[in-house]
Amino acid sequence: MVTLTIDGQRIQAEEGTTLLEAARDHNIYIPTLCVNEAVSPYGACRLCLVEVTKKERQRLVASCLYFVEEGLIVRTDSERIALIRGMIIELLLARCPKAGEVQELAKRLGVRESRFRVEDENNLCVLCALCTRVCQEVVGQSAISLVNPGTDREVAIPFYDNSDACIACGSCAYICPTEAIKLEDVGDTRIITMPNCRLEFKLKQCPKCGTYWAPEKQLEYMIKKANISPKVFDLCPDCRE
Ligand code: SF4
Ligand code: FES
Repeated sequence: MVTLTIDGQRIQAEEGTTLLEAARDHNIYIPTLCVNEAVSPYGACRLCLVEVTKKERQRLVASCLYFVEEGLIVRTDSERIALIRGMIIELLLARCPKAGEVQELAKRLGVRESRFRVEDENNLCVLCALCTRVCQEVVGQSAISLVNPGTDREVAIPFYDNSDACIACGSCAYICPTEAIKLEDVGDTRIITMPNCRLEFKLKQCPKCGTYWAPEKQLEYMIKKANISPKVFDLCPDCRE
């Protein structure tokens, strides 16, 4: 265990705990947009910046990536942090003015409007990379990635075309904090709509009840990964004994 101070509160935390986790364990609020416990931290949004003082040297760090240390002094709410966070949320508001999660955060941080120009008012992608991380780390595929540098950065599948690696599981849509990726099952088809492409996959029909219940590609992937008999997925879960 290490002892540190966050916002004047002396706390203890296990080694290997991030500052964000330690703060949350003690009900200290730090805003975040790119963190989800299902995947490893990445440091994309920078909203979680905090000020740390160590050996009388002060610096700003991303609390989702920085681990607790003995004697560390942490400030989560200084004027400097409020200024930087305000700027970041204004940039996010200009990038994704209609994203509910961004609007909520702006409200909570007391930011009403952005001084920056809106380029595309329908853009919902905050480039948090949660979708790419869940695809790689949880599903075990790398069907999508963040491509292009600078202002052209975006989420994409290879060559902006149908991705062979995508198994249609929809994990990217479930984890996306802003609904920039959408999933819809229509009849026998699963449609995944990403910021710049649309993918369609065939759903398997249950021979007993007729329901289209899971993407064929996802079932094939599971059969191969777990080395199980295809017969396991003959019927939908409701019609299995
Ligand atoms: S599509 Fe969603 S999850 Fe992926 S980077 Fe954009 S906002 Fe994040
Ligand atoms: S939550 Fe730490 S950088 Fe986004």
